[in-house]
Amino acid sequence: MTRQAMARQAWVNGVYVAADEARISPFDRGFLFADGVYEVTAVYGGRLIDMGRHLDRLERSLRELKFGTMPDRHELEEVHRTLVAHNGIDEGYVYLQVTRGAYGARDFVAPETPRLTIFMFAEPRALIDTPSARNGTRIVSVPDIRWARRDIKSVGLLAQALAKTEAKVRGADDAWLVAPDGFVTEGASSNAWIVTKDGEIITRAISNMILAGVTRHALFDALGQRGGKITERSFTLEEAKAAVEAFSTAATGLVTPVVEIDGVVLGSGRPGAVTRGVQKIYYTAIGADVAKAAPWVET
Ligand code: PDD
Repeated sequence: MTRQAMARQAWVNGVYVAADEARISPFDRGFLFADGVYEVTAVYGGRLIDMGRHLDRLERSLRELKFGTMPDRHELEEVHRTLVAHNGIDEGYVYLQVTRGAYGARDFVAPETPRLTIFMFAEPRALIDTPSARNGTRIVSVPDIRWARRDIKSVGLLAQALAKTEAKVRGADDAWLVAPDGFVTEGASSNAWIVTKDGEIITRAISNMILAGVTRHALFDALGQRGGKITERSFTLEEAKAAVEAFSTAATGLVTPVVEIDGVVLGSGRPGAVTRGVQKIYYTAIGADVAKAAPWVET
């Protein structure tokens, strides 16, 4: 049986359903106005990685958008765990989306007390042993045309979808977004990092210009515990191209080396020693047996 044909289980507004049979109204404000937020939580070894931080960020996004109503956090935690179990996810992710709901009309003005639409599904996916994590990715720069509140994890992802599609059309693996001032903001669905020739690890500071990545945060903790230092500052596209190493972080790719930017090869063109070290530290932090799961980090 193909994966599509298998009854993948999702959850919509309190009910577990076969994913193909999940139904949401076309009047849903998420569909009409992108009036919703989402989270993607990685699963490794059947464990949800940093679910607490993802739910904290979800609640923050909802507060910033003045939703007024919060989903029941305990229920969300429970559904995360159940979807992982019911879908047999060892390695993959859980997707969670909360919108301001459906009211049978197209009214720009949001209701005072929304009836939320909550949708969740789980998907198996390799996170550690992937060609990108092993060999690195080639990225292209794309102008960052998003709105001014990138700190909110909004489902309004058209700019990101277009950037990633452009990257594919241009023969690359992914896109990094560049603001009009020439500074890199972040990846299309990841945070962006560079390593200078002096071994300095640099990533942009948190602000409304980027999403405060959970993987980014976890890496600060994990590196900090080992006495590693990260410099939080903005860097230009030119600086990124002159870097000796670079990588992206996200729940869907964990730590993904970048070996080429706009056709400019970084360092040796292979994932560098600092990036390998960061991968090793992160994989260890999520409970992976690195020698078995990612022996290539040592090479
Ligand atoms: N995206 N920046 C952007 C714009 C993102 O979309 C993401 C994650 C990140 C990294 O955040 P985290 O480490 O919490 O995953 C940064 C998810 C994975 C997605 O859209 O699929």
